[in-house]
Amino acid sequence: MHAAVAVAQSPTDPLSGLVLQDVPKPEPRPGWSLVRVAASSLNMHDLWTLRGVGHAPEDLPRVLGCDAAGHDEDGTPVVVYPVIATPDRGRGDETHDPQRALLSEKHDGAFAEWLQVPTRNLLPLPDSLSLDDAACLPVAWGTAYRMLTTQAGVRAGDRVMVQGAGGGVASAAIKLALAMGAVVYATSRSADKLTQAESWGARGIESGGRLPEKADVVIETVGEATWSHSLKALRPGGTVVVAGATSGMNPPADLGRVFYLQQRILGSTGCTLVEFQELLRMVEATGVRPVVDRALPLDEIHKGFQLMADGNLVGKIVIHPKETP
Ligand SMILES: NC(=O)c1ccc[n+]([C@@H]2O[C@H](COP(=O)([O-])OP(=O)(O)OC[C@H]3O[C@@H](n4cnc5c(N)ncnc54)[C@H](OP(=O)(O)O)[C@@H]3O)[C@@H](O)[C@H]2O)c1
Repeated sequence: MHAAVAVAQSPTDPLSGLVLQDVPKPEPRPGWSLVRVAASSLNMHDLWTLRGVGHAPEDLPRVLGCDAAGHDEDGTPVVVYPVIATPDRGRGDETHDPQRALLSEKHDGAFAEWLQVPTRNLLPLPDSLSLDDAACLPVAWGTAYRMLTTQAGVRAGDRVMVQGAGGGVASAAIKLALAMGAVVYATSRSADKLTQAESWGARGIESGGRLPEKADVVIETVGEATWSHSLKALRPGGTVVVAGATSGMNPPADLGRVFYLQQRILGSTGCTLVEFQELLRMVEATGVRPVVDRALPLDEIHKGFQLMADGNLVGKIVIHPKETP
């Protein structure tokens, strides 16, 4: 089967290490199930792997792709929960399992016609959801859902600021927070992306700009470029939830502000299987849907990653695998 495989890592030219090649279909193993992938989607995580961040070189070659929707061996439409982990090792929360692995870290991922995952990771596709939309949910939307709910405890009427409106996680956080009844401020460097966020119901704020009121919650995935603004925009006692740092990991800590204003800073990674089930029910119940920038065939995956690396996209890029004739 045809697949997009990470064969090398480079901090400066990450896409040179991604090759399209034929690989064997996964061999059946007990407790795991095969999925015929109908759609996957791109994540910054794939680019970090290709840059050599958070992925050991000895774990190459590896089929990339953390998100998948498709059909199980009985032909039932499914969406794949992307964290391979054991809740018991995480004291009931698999995102706390020290041995957890996101799909494509320790096991081959979804940029291929066939994928194999633990059977517990297969969830029925909600009736009203398309396979393309479902393929956008596992990583970006699962992460945003946990940030807003379990971590920040967002309630209707809360003021939520989301940094970097165009991002996969950020666009998910904006749409989910709006569906939860929050007042949402979305920041972006791009006027076009602000206009799009406003069309979803958010209030657009130029990156670093002053909000008309302080935020109860800030959703941060941009990192160094926005961190200082995130702390300044937060009310005393408010919460920043951070799940990523695309622009850099080490902004000034501003400890005086943090303790004097009693700000809460919470890290967040992925979501649990139960949270992902809740997300699927919420999507079904509210009709909220992911923002799909475009869908591309697997052969054009490099073009999709270049758009992501350049920040020239809004929401998610869907990838359709090549079927064996
Ligand atoms: N912890 C987890 O479980 C988890 C899960 C998913 C993702 N992540 C991480 O979260 C981050 C975002 O992931 P993603 O998939 O949503 O990526 P993405 O779709 O590429 O979004 C990144 C967004 O960050 C903003 N941005 C980038 N560089 C910036 C800069 N220099 N200044 C201001 N804004 C900048 C851009 O927003 P504008 O263009 O609108 O300004 C961009 O749309 C990544 O670092 C990823 O690794 C973590």
